[in-house]
Amino acid sequence: MSAMEALLATILLSSLLLVSSADISSKIGVNYGRKGNNLPSPYRTIETVRLMNAGRIKLYDSDHEILKLLSGTNIHVSTTVPNNDIIRIASSQAAAEQWVQNNVLNFYPDTMIRFVLVGNDVLSHDRRIWPSLVPAMRRIKNSLNAHDIKNIKVCTPLTMDVLQSTFPPSSGEFRSNITDTVMAPLLRFLNGTKSFFFINAYPYLAWSANSRNISLDFALFRGRTNQTDHKTGLVYTNLLDQMLDSVIFAMRKLGYHDIRLAIGETGWPSAGDIDQVGANINNAATYNRKLIQKMTSKPPLGTPARPGAVIPTFIFSLYDENQKPGPTTQRHWGLLRSNGTPIYDIDITGRRPLSSYKPLPAARSNMPYRGKLWCEVAPGVDVANLSSALSYACSQGNQTCAALNPGQQCYEPVSMFWHASYAFSSYWAKFRKQGATCYFNGLARQTRNNPSRGHCNFPSVTL
Ligand SMILES: *[C@@H]1O[C@H](CO)[C@@H](O)[C@H](O)[C@H]1NC(C)=O
Ligand SMILES: *[C@@H]1O[C@H](CO)[C@@H](O)[C@H](O)[C@H]1NC(C)=O
Ligand SMILES: *[C@@H]1O[C@H](CO)[C@@H](O)[C@H](O)[C@H]1NC(C)=O
Ligand SMILES: *[C@@H]1O[C@H](CO)[C@@H](O)[C@H](O)[C@H]1NC(C)=O
Ligand SMILES: *[C@@H]1O[C@H](CO)[C@@H](O)[C@H](O)[C@H]1NC(C)=O
Ligand SMILES: *[C@@H]1O[C@H](CO)[C@@H](O)[C@H](O)[C@H]1NC(C)=O
Repeated sequence: MSAMEALLATILLSSLLLVSSADISSKIGVNYGRKGNNLPSPYRTIETVRLMNAGRIKLYDSDHEILKLLSGTNIHVSTTVPNNDIIRIASSQAAAEQWVQNNVLNFYPDTMIRFVLVGNDVLSHDRRIWPSLVPAMRRIKNSLNAHDIKNIKVCTPLTMDVLQSTFPPSSGEFRSNITDTVMAPLLRFLNGTKSFFFINAYPYLAWSANSRNISLDFALFRGRTNQTDHKTGLVYTNLLDQMLDSVIFAMRKLGYHDIRLAIGETGWPSAGDIDQVGANINNAATYNRKLIQKMTSKPPLGTPARPGAVIPTFIFSLYDENQKPGPTTQRHWGLLRSNGTPIYDIDITGRRPLSSYKPLPAARSNMPYRGKLWCEVAPGVDVANLSSALSYACSQGNQTCAALNPGQQCYEPVSMFWHASYAFSSYWAKFRKQGATCYFNGLARQTRNNPSRGHCNFPSVTL
């Protein structure tokens, strides 16, 4: 061949390589969660995501307006089949085909859809869906194949609770009640289609549940000590690597040695309740900046069990979402406030050197609070909103509000605020162990100061 032909062949080959490696680029993604009633429009959001130079975006649905807005951008898109469509799609190729027509073919390739995620955390939820998960993934994949679409992978994001053992990483093992029924067929599918194992991995959750035994520095990628897994000899410098490798070892135990990992969600909350240790801007910025630096490093770092592997990573989350229930951290996972402004400086491309960031505000405390806590009416709440929350709290357990009955010790002073603070404290003290939170849709907050002001005995939580 002529020199010109050789040159053209090289260019063609390298562009082919670029195309085929597109789905494993190390560009960082963001999760576009939308559980908020005060978030910027999808239009403004996609503009923001472009300006942030995010390489990927992950949707929890397949919203058509958003998919349309993403067309013509160079953002790689992950779109989701909702959990409640899984059984239907598993049972009918026509249903899968229709889903693909409506939610992929209508937008692809102008919208660079690269992952179709079937469900979210399926194995943490409704057991009835489990048997349908892999069949639904197969049907979606069949449909994409029928349209000759090669660069969309079909995956399903799972959480760390699919493992029954994670530490040390070499002990990683899937829960026995899903191993044969779901994990084995899932891994066969992922291996056969060269797809990714999507894992949601939160060092924050592992550390905060066990902050006495795990050092914060280890969770924040700034460990001054290393941990060796004595069975393998692998040396770990951070908790995320340990979590990822426990998944890798669990897959190996079922015979799968090279299914690639992707991180569907990871991050760190920038604010939390008094009983939620370590949720602050300082730690959130440290975690996410170092995460980005690690995951975009060239050459790729991988993990101790998989050195050099590229791990597509999606940060949770783009925005603080004010309509998420539960503890305060739930509403503070965002990189951005609900008005679209950044909570802390962050360069999602990983190109900015960490040393160039301005100093962060000092963290108030990274030590777990020890002492008593109460749950009181939050400041500024409209009294008219309290009665239904009060009735709810008092209807949980037959003695929760006994002290508020006429003649009982907390009846006086007769005021909605007073009674509601009593009810919130009593409810929370009784049911916190079962997962109850002091929130009541924003009507309540935790306090270290006994709201009873000495009138009567308000139940408290002791940490
Ligand atoms: C599966 O096993 C885990 C413990 O490994 C347990 O917590 C969970 O409740 C079990 N789920 C079902 C549906 O049996
Ligand atoms: C922390 O470590 C101690 C001693 O190594 C152990 O007894 C304890 O169970 C650990 N706590 C948790 C929550 O794992
Ligand atoms: C921990 O391991 C890393 C990478 O292997 C190494 O660069 C570092 O010096 C080690 N640190 C300590 C305290 O052993
Ligand atoms: C995984 O797929 C490869 C082909 O890509 C195959 O050689 C290997 O046997 C598969 N692994 C298992 C455990 O089926
Ligand atoms: C209080 O109730 C009003 C009217 O129902 C509602 O618009 C407002 O959002 C409520 N506030 C809170 C904090 O629940
Ligand atoms: C009230 O709760 C106590 C335990 O807290 C239980 O023994 C009792 O049966 C309950 N009474 C009613 C009427 O449910």
